[in-house]
Amino acid sequence: MSRFAPAAPAVLAEAGGRALPSTLVTPRTSHRRSACARAALVAVTALAGGCAWDGPMSTLVARSDLNRSILSVYGIITWACVIIAAVVFAGLAIVLLRFREQAGAAGLPRQIRGHTGLELAWTIAPALILLVIAIPTIQVIFRTQTAATPGNALEVTVRGWQWWWEFRYPGLDVVTANELHLPVGRPVVLSLEGPDVIHSFWVPQLGGKRDVVPGRLNRITLTPERAGEYWGQCAEFCGASHALMGLRVIVEEPAAFERWVAAQAGPPAEPDGPAAEGKALYARSACVGCHAIRGVSAGALGPDLTHFGSRALFGAGLWPTTPEHVVAWLKDPPALKPGAKMPDLNLSDAEAQALAAYLLSLK
Ligand code: CUA
Repeated sequence: MSRFAPAAPAVLAEAGGRALPSTLVTPRTSHRRSACARAALVAVTALAGGCAWDGPMSTLVARSDLNRSILSVYGIITWACVIIAAVVFAGLAIVLLRFREQAGAAGLPRQIRGHTGLELAWTIAPALILLVIAIPTIQVIFRTQTAATPGNALEVTVRGWQWWWEFRYPGLDVVTANELHLPVGRPVVLSLEGPDVIHSFWVPQLGGKRDVVPGRLNRITLTPERAGEYWGQCAEFCGASHALMGLRVIVEEPAAFERWVAAQAGPPAEPDGPAAEGKALYARSACVGCHAIRGVSAGALGPDLTHFGSRALFGAGLWPTTPEHVVAWLKDPPALKPGAKMPDLNLSDAEAQALAAYLLSLK
């Protein structure tokens, strides 16, 4: 038995005078088997996860010119790494097989120092590898960070708040939250503003992460290349509900985008029935201090609700915009979203339902 073998199970079991879980007192072979099983499980999970190439948050699916540029560099680096790994492992295998200790050999083998050819080779080779990676990387950085705005670009101001996204379309009279609409095939310039803390705007299939920093204007220029719904997520830790700060980007045909703009720029329909009661309640409640609804309130701390009912999800991509979910949210926001700035207003069930009816009527 090796001198590193564990103490007898019985001794371990009595450690501290209390019984230990059986997993801690099984023999070492069983430890190894369970460790192997765990490692296999981790590997399978990683493979399964890694194989989700086309998952909604996959960076390997390029749906914009920006992401295609980033993927091209990623491909070069990946192939460079694969080739380097193959060369290193092949060299290692040769050394292990050819220069292993021979039976009957005496002392150390002949030692070689200062081989000029080898020294040159392993100085020049990494420099070449870095060059191969650096040239396309620098090209893509300059191309994607350019301050020039394409002539027909759509401009959108993106503001990251704790914990939701605001999208303003200057010149179009449209303000929305958590759901960014873009026309396919037209360049868009996103100006990133941080009113509170640092966030990071990230829609994997449309492009790389870029930080939203208070006091600094960062920009992303990209052209969406295919209509669809793309998932995004804040990618910089920004407080309690950082993980609950999602967004959706709806890329649509230009005609559909124009229809959406026309609907968003107009006022919401006048509510009736329970929704009208909800409107009256809204107008005399604390809601108006934080939220804007065109023609009703002008608060600027929370999401603009003018067309709340037109968004498929609310709460920064968390819940479907249905009566049950909206009522649950209104009744106690911090319970659904830790740290939410919107307080529990102690609404009765009837009040929450009336408010939800009003919000859902805001198409
Ligand atoms: Cu916003 Cu993390």
